[in-house]
Amino acid sequence: GAPVEVDISTLQPGEMRTVEWRGKPVWILKRTPEMVASLKKTDGKVADANSERNPAEFTPQYCMNEWRSIKPEILVAVGICTHLGCSPSSKFTPGPQPSLPDDWEGGFLCPCHGSTFDMAGRVYKNKPAPDNLQVPRHMYLSDTTLVIG
Ligand code: FES
Repeated sequence: GAPVEVDISTLQPGEMRTVEWRGKPVWILKRTPEMVASLKKTDGKVADANSERNPAEFTPQYCMNEWRSIKPEILVAVGICTHLGCSPSSKFTPGPQPSLPDDWEGGFLCPCHGSTFDMAGRVYKNKPAPDNLQVPRHMYLSDTTLVIG
């Protein structure tokens, strides 16, 4: 499939846009400073904090950092659960909510079997999903132009 070019100039903090790439939904989330800070708190609760499992498939070298991204505020991830392929939904609001732990810091919940992912798409411990959400190959052509693929 051809690379997809996305203008993110109007993306607001806390806003997520979904684009299609190779038939897959790709999320582009502009994280707020609070969302970025939440990643420190979830470090100890996720199964693969440093994205060391299957990096060739799930995390490009340039995203092997604490944000799993090129820019700390911009998450680019494939919105498909690594368990059996359902679509996780965004649960950005921290705090207790149905189906989420009391110490929820914000992230994503897969409705099919309850896998939860943090604001970097890292899967929480003891969940059925074996891997973090895939970060697709991507780069910036300018500050506001992203190319996926
Ligand atoms: Fe997401 Fe099973 S498909 S938890």
